[in-house]
Amino acid sequence: MTTTRSSAELIHAESAVLAHNYHPLPVVVARAEGVWVEDVEGRRYLDMLAGYSALNFGHRHPALIEAAHRQLDRLTLTSRAFHHELLAGFAEELAALTGLEMTLPMNTGAEAVESAVKVARKWAYEVKGVPRDRATIVVAEDNFHGRTTTIVGFSTDPVARDGFGPFTPGFRVVPYNDLPALREAVDETTAAVLLEPVQGEAGVVIPDEGYLAGVREATRAAGALFIADEIQSGLGRTGTTLAVEHEGVRPDAVLLGKALGGGIVPVSAVVATREVLGVLRPGEHGSTFGGNPLAAAVGSAVVALLRTGEYQRRAAGLGAVLRDGLAALVGRGVTGFRCRGLWAGVDVDPAIGTGREIGERLLAEGVLVKDTHGSTIRLAPPLTITPEELAWALGRLAAVLER
Ligand SMILES: Cc1ncc(COP(=O)(O)O)c(C=O)c1O
Repeated sequence: MTTTRSSAELIHAESAVLAHNYHPLPVVVARAEGVWVEDVEGRRYLDMLAGYSALNFGHRHPALIEAAHRQLDRLTLTSRAFHHELLAGFAEELAALTGLEMTLPMNTGAEAVESAVKVARKWAYEVKGVPRDRATIVVAEDNFHGRTTTIVGFSTDPVARDGFGPFTPGFRVVPYNDLPALREAVDETTAAVLLEPVQGEAGVVIPDEGYLAGVREATRAAGALFIADEIQSGLGRTGTTLAVEHEGVRPDAVLLGKALGGGIVPVSAVVATREVLGVLRPGEHGSTFGGNPLAAAVGSAVVALLRTGEYQRRAAGLGAVLRDGLAALVGRGVTGFRCRGLWAGVDVDPAIGTGREIGERLLAEGVLVKDTHGSTIRLAPPLTITPEELAWALGRLAAVLER
């Protein structure tokens, strides 16, 4: 269905009938292909956000669209009351991709996190022997794991938390990238340490070399699980399939989402060892849509793209271009940046504008980005972007900062 209303009319209409839990940039997207999107007036923009990494393979990647079409014509939903022919293969592929063993399929990222919290607690009681209802989970300051009441309960962002209590107990918050604090917090009640290997929403915060390996060591020593939330960092974004690979670390559980659905359907998963996911028995957890045939078809096609290694290589190679381009802007409007693979948090001199204002100016230049906190913008283009397109986007950023 297409619309006859203008962007301005649609934005105005939305404000009357949609909850105001977002403050989108004033662009109304009508269609997209690869790294380019087009608004309802036909203006084109280079997408440097890629759905917060849900579009790692670009908009409407032909192989993913084909897999979705094929499945739409065959079978879309069974619920888990019955088996379907694609789920075993999808789970086998996820195990091979991550070096883990079993999958718990869900839909959104937050659901995968919630599921991991439940599973970690059950594991703590049944395997580790933590006294009933005493299990704790250690998380990091400035985390972002989603929006459910349990998850925002252990957020340290007042905007995410305030007004939504009372919250679920059982979480301990430690500073990110601080191994002594983490070691201090982990004890005989600890079910798991739950961390983002790179903190995306916090502004693409990359821990010091050795931190993730240290977390692995500390959790192993304390007999606790290490759960890596790779929902934003995983599936090629940082130049490796998983961001934990930068330190050669294998967690007990990896949470996947966003790009796992190819930008087509919500697909998430807890992928873990047999010891961890083996604690679940029929009736204890579930989801009507989790692991549905359409999701499995698209998810398998995503894994097939990642198996080629091409997207990881692109992210690593183009990441170097991105890093060099941003380094050249330091002192010219950029006060600092953090970059891993094709993913960067860029701190803009507040005198030039807030992140939001920079986003609006870039929009006028034909580039879509999103701010995070204060004057930080984040760049995460589809991994299919060409060096020329990336250079063009960086040129637009330079122009906006100069003005
Ligand atoms: C690291 C991380 N975990 C979880 C989530 C939540 O995912 P969803 O929005 O699909 O619930 C996000 C979303 O930005 C994320 O970045």
